[in-house]
Amino acid sequence: MRLDVVTIFPEYLEPLNVSLVGKARARGQLQVGVHDLRDWTYDRHNTVDDTPYGGGPGMVMKTEPWGDALDEILADGYEAGARGPVLVVPTPSGRPFTQELAVELSERPWLVFTPARYEGIDRRVIDEYATRMPVYEVSIGDYVLAGGEAAVLVVTEAVARLLPGVLGNAESHRDDSFAPGAMANLLEGPVHTKPPVWRGRGIPEVLLSGHHGKIARWRRDEALRRTTAHRPDLIERTAPAAFDKKDREMLSILGWAPDPEGERSGRFWRRVEDVEE
Ligand SMILES: C[S@@+](CC[C@H](N)C(=O)[O-])C[C@H]1O[C@@H](n2cnc3c(N)ncnc32)[C@H](O)[C@@H]1O
Repeated sequence: MRLDVVTIFPEYLEPLNVSLVGKARARGQLQVGVHDLRDWTYDRHNTVDDTPYGGGPGMVMKTEPWGDALDEILADGYEAGARGPVLVVPTPSGRPFTQELAVELSERPWLVFTPARYEGIDRRVIDEYATRMPVYEVSIGDYVLAGGEAAVLVVTEAVARLLPGVLGNAESHRDDSFAPGAMANLLEGPVHTKPPVWRGRGIPEVLLSGHHGKIARWRRDEALRRTTAHRPDLIERTAPAAFDKKDREMLSILGWAPDPEGERSGRFWRRVEDVEE
């Protein structure tokens, strides 16, 4: 996979040399280009921003440096279609970045990131490149960062670990929270390692039993417990068919019941106390 990042803070992307992403680069599984947007400015002050049309606070990133930078980067290997690049635009007004989206991006050969600063990039830049390639405007959460570089690191790490051969153990992401399949709407439960007792705290006996079926069931129950506690919204919108009989028993123990109106409302489960209100 090829990644290009255009930024006014190239040094912010240094972590792309470290750990999993750094190793994937060293092995040639990822080709990363980090480009300084100011290389495409031609005035004495290397200006990349200007005041917003319509007034208001803050500055807006100018069209010309972004356009020249993207044209030059894309000229090296651009083709339209599935083998071509996609533009990833970090913005708090984008669609939420999810594991599903990470999987989708991991299937593309080339991602071009445009992390902004100030109040963002002049809209015409995004509209212009949307005529040449798919554009993903993504938000990494409901908060506002000072710039998009941290979002690029987040997206890159989530995507890179899905690439074939990047994780030592290809099974590692199968059980992750949000992983497609059985865990699609569940958070992963707790994990433990040696020693078996630490500061008087043992580990759940079932994990020592060697009984794969019981261990899998315990993990599933813990995933349900954690998801109901931390992300009840994920349980609510899971169709009942995704849960087996034991899941449903556990959900009942945790105080959840199927919502009879679920098919109509899309909210399939409710806390029993909410039903009784
Ligand atoms: C100060 S923010 C601009 C916020 C903009 N005024 C708004 O409210 O949408 C500057 C840049 O940081 C990045 N950014 C901030 N929060 C982000 C988030 N939650 N997800 C992704 N990128 C974000 C984007 O690149 C954004 O253009």
